[in-house]
Amino acid sequence: MQIVAKTLAGLESVLEKEIASLGGENIVALKRAVQFEGNLELLYRANYELRTAVRVLKPIAKFNVRNEHELYQKIQTINWEDFMSIRDTLAIDAAVSSQHFNHSKYVALKTKDAIVDQFRSKTGRRPSVDINNPFLRINIHIGGSECTVALDSSGDSLHKRNYRISQTSAPLSEVLAAGMLKLAGWKADRDFVDPMCGSGTILIEAAMMAYNIPAQVLRKDFCFMNWPDFDARLWRQVKQEARKKQRAFRYRIMGSDIDLEAIKASRTNVKAIRLDGKIRLECKDFADFELEANNGGLLVINPPYGERLEEENINGLYSMIGDKLKQTFTGFDAWILSSNFDAFKHIGLRTSRKIPLINGSLDCKFQHYELYQGSKKKKFR
Ligand SMILES: C[S@@+](CC[C@H](N)C(=O)[O-])C[C@H]1O[C@@H](n2cnc3c(N)ncnc32)[C@H](O)[C@@H]1O
Repeated sequence: MQIVAKTLAGLESVLEKEIASLGGENIVALKRAVQFEGNLELLYRANYELRTAVRVLKPIAKFNVRNEHELYQKIQTINWEDFMSIRDTLAIDAAVSSQHFNHSKYVALKTKDAIVDQFRSKTGRRPSVDINNPFLRINIHIGGSECTVALDSSGDSLHKRNYRISQTSAPLSEVLAAGMLKLAGWKADRDFVDPMCGSGTILIEAAMMAYNIPAQVLRKDFCFMNWPDFDARLWRQVKQEARKKQRAFRYRIMGSDIDLEAIKASRTNVKAIRLDGKIRLECKDFADFELEANNGGLLVINPPYGERLEEENINGLYSMIGDKLKQTFTGFDAWILSSNFDAFKHIGLRTSRKIPLINGSLDCKFQHYELYQGSKKKKFR
């Protein structure tokens, strides 16, 4: 079976590795996606365990189309009764990068028309659309004149892990947070700190990796459960095997934030994923952060980017971050995600890696600072 896992820009390489570790074969990285081969079991595992995929697709047809009329006709060559009945609902997602088609919404509409018209001509009735919770989610990708029709096995986006009960103003996508941790090389073999943790996304993803908790442990519904080939026994087995891989973790995971509401949100979310007692949370200005025993570790920060008026002194905040890293976190690897490239300069430490990522619609850099001990300190400017 060919499978395509979609992801966020910049996370293709880490998703490739995740897929390889689950046993995917003939893996090929695409733009914001990774294509691979596997069986039904791997499709279930991909949905349950992948941390850096946003959805997992199963292509069912590929053909060439140059206009909407051809698209309509080719979509009708698929027997949609194989996948749904008149009583079931559907939703179409379309992505288009083609000289022949301008609007992905129009492609989705034409595809929907072709499917419902097929039912109408057979039965006189048509199935309904449900954008939020459809029985069958269909994905159309047109690149040039090549159109791929796929069934979306995930349904809801896989960034929804169901632990985000409470949120603050600018929460990170869970998929982006997991991708950042993988890019930062988080191997759960040392302490972990997020001193501007907001609603706790990075901390929770780091802890889920450390304890090897499956990404979708809290999720009940996936669209593949509505497919005619759904194998409930195999699905149960996949979940049991993944849960068996959970392990102990003996280092510290510490989070703090200057905003008490953020800490309350983090506490609620940490509880939702049943990690209470495993993540230390404190309401504190990073400037006052003290590290009880420094054994080295990994520190990941998603600070404010200074887009809101009240964050006037954004350069001062970044300069404080740089000073604090120097004073308190010797021996750590620090990674910072921001879209504010001017403010980055005020960190005042040499960057050893810069990775472009996109947070929502903002172009960001994910920057690495190695906080060496001893003589290497002179690296700091
Ligand atoms: C972009 S948000 C972090 C969002 C978080 N990654 C999440 O997923 O929810 C930035 C956070 O930095 C916190 N912050 C700003 N200045 C701070 C400071 N001096 N010390 C500690 N936290 C600070 C804000 O309260 C806010 O929660």
